[in-house]
Amino acid sequence: MDLYEYQARDLFEAHAVPVLAGIVAYTPEEAKAAAEKIGGVVVVKAQVKVGGRGKAGGVKVAKTPDEAFEYATNILGMDIKGHTVNKVMIAQGADIAEEYYFSVLLDRANRNYLAMCSVEGGMEIEQLAVERPDALAKIAVDPAVGIDQAKADEIVAAAGFAEELRGKVAETIVKLWDVFIKEDATLVEVNPLVKTGAGDIVALDGKVSIDENAAFRHPEHAELEDKDAADPLEAKAKELDLNYVKLDGQVGIIGNGAGLVMSTLDVVAYAGENHGNVKPANFLDIGGGASAEVMANGLDIILNDAQVKSVFVNVFGGITACDAVANGIVKALEILGEKATKPLVVRLDGNSVEEGRRILRDANHPLVTLAVGMDEGADKAAELANA
Ligand SMILES: Nc1ncnc2c1ncn2[C@@H]1O[C@H](COP(=O)(O)OP(=O)(O)O)[C@@H](O)[C@H]1O
Ligand SMILES: [Mg+2]
Repeated sequence: MDLYEYQARDLFEAHAVPVLAGIVAYTPEEAKAAAEKIGGVVVVKAQVKVGGRGKAGGVKVAKTPDEAFEYATNILGMDIKGHTVNKVMIAQGADIAEEYYFSVLLDRANRNYLAMCSVEGGMEIEQLAVERPDALAKIAVDPAVGIDQAKADEIVAAAGFAEELRGKVAETIVKLWDVFIKEDATLVEVNPLVKTGAGDIVALDGKVSIDENAAFRHPEHAELEDKDAADPLEAKAKELDLNYVKLDGQVGIIGNGAGLVMSTLDVVAYAGENHGNVKPANFLDIGGGASAEVMANGLDIILNDAQVKSVFVNVFGGITACDAVANGIVKALEILGEKATKPLVVRLDGNSVEEGRRILRDANHPLVTLAVGMDEGADKAAELANA
């Protein structure tokens, strides 16, 4: 889960990372009141989960509360790279002397953590990495040790900080590591980390991604979830404990096992090229124990997607054999009754496949078509979606 800048700021503050005052505002009036409360120069910052807000005109310096009102009026409702701005943060204005970059992230490819740091912050890091790779220090972080004082010293030295700054920056980096590890984050990025005119180090813009697999350790993280922005079907699937991701297509997909579902998406997308370019409508993995109830819940979610025109159920019988899955489908259609309105192509294979197919043939549900192979099933489902 990606956090908003103001949420990252709050987490930073909770772990003693130096930040400036920041207040969230949903209206220009609230923005003005926040600017009055903070006092002095403030910065009105669009809160959207995408970078490059500054360049897009979503970060404006306001010298007075009236200016904060005016900028908030302009920024609220603005579209930044497809994200509508519903809230702004009124941040205390910093007297910036220099801008730096720091991040620590889960480095999946190397099964490790990776810290990146540069004395050339501010600009987009992807650009820096391409244009001036030498200016970006990349330091592997041993998960068993983390970023201790010695590691932080190594990072600031590699990044090329001036001798007299290293102590202060390293201290902040150790605290940012605290945020990363104690909050179970997969990314903590500060861009820019600044030195102020007075020589203080401050995290001016924070980006944090939280590992949702660690949610059980962090009941408090539930509050960070952006209920307004979440897709309603995804929210419902989450409540039902289903692994569902909404996509932008017409063929609903249900499968068991993430790998099978991923390849089903590919096969359906490929088949769709012959049928009006229909595409997969979702990812839905009902997991190993595909009970009738889980199947019914899954079908219910998918059939509630107005974009869906057909559904492809692609199940490989393993521990839960095909006969149990077939019974699940039949019962699910019973449970759904008139709510089941879209054609279903079912492809079963694996354990007890013959028995599974027989159960579906005997049930003879008008919406269900049986397919033998995965390609055939995908083609049929795409055809039905395009009909
Ligand atoms: N509180 C602040 N005070 C002064 N300048 C700021 C403040 N916050 C951001 N800025 C300036 O605006 C630039 C862009 O803001 P930032 O928060 O990094 O947004 P983004 O990365 O989305 O463009 C920063 O590099 C910095 O120069
Ligand atoms: Mg930034």
